[in-house]
Amino acid sequence: SSIGTFSTSSTVKMSETISLDQAKKLAARAAVEEWIIEGETKIVGIGSGSTIVYAVERLAERVWKDGELSDLICVPTSFQARSLILDHNLNLGDLDRYPILDVAIDGADEVDSRMVCIKGGGGCLMQEKIVAACAKRFVVVADYTKKSLRLGEQWCKGVPIEVAPIAHVPIKLKIEAMFGGEAHLRMAKAKAGPIVTDNGNFLLDWKFVAKREYDWDEVNHAIKMIPGVMETGLFVGMAHKCYFGMADGNVKAQV
Ligand code: 5RP
Repeated sequence: SSIGTFSTSSTVKMSETISLDQAKKLAARAAVEEWIIEGETKIVGIGSGSTIVYAVERLAERVWKDGELSDLICVPTSFQARSLILDHNLNLGDLDRYPILDVAIDGADEVDSRMVCIKGGGGCLMQEKIVAACAKRFVVVADYTKKSLRLGEQWCKGVPIEVAPIAHVPIKLKIEAMFGGEAHLRMAKAKAGPIVTDNGNFLLDWKFVAKREYDWDEVNHAIKMIPGVMETGLFVGMAHKCYFGMADGNVKAQV
């Protein structure tokens, strides 16, 4: 993949370091400007997390302030995304009615030099992957802390894996035996019990061996074959373009 930088129209001076939130906003807005085209883009997948909020805000601005995109249909990837769409008075769609999307925009927890992404920090990986797979283009938006040469540089919580509650222990043991590292059941704050996803499942966070050379396509397929695994947070060969808001106020695009 290749990388290009373009400067933004913001007032950030090149020498300044911007906040993570500003970086997220720059990336999200750049993606919306490039991929959501008046009169062309009809259906967009809306990802989950904190970065996508800025993309939805920009979409709402274009609909409600600029008088554009009034027919745009937004398909959510989570309960959070659905609420975002409704809160901004955008048109809510679903995959029953809109199984083919023009583009899906989503955040990521880490992106490597081949645009393999780890997703699911917010636990929404299954619906996120389904929606991304229904889109003609999958576009990632993130701040500069998510950009790596190889996975494991930034993301220390590991690869999220959505599993059937009944099978979390055998799945954990199988993953550790096959690929090393440690897989931990994701717990709610204050150890109130396991986190339950929008789909009623549990999450394992697999801390892989950061120094080991993994073939992520193979790992993804092998883990998916374990009975009880619903989905992995490894998005291999899916991202079409990634936008990173950089510390200097520029946006770096990777294709
Ligand atoms: C949720 C996700 C998010 O897209 C990912 O965690 C990035 O989140 P943020 O934009 O808050 O950094 O995969 O399941």
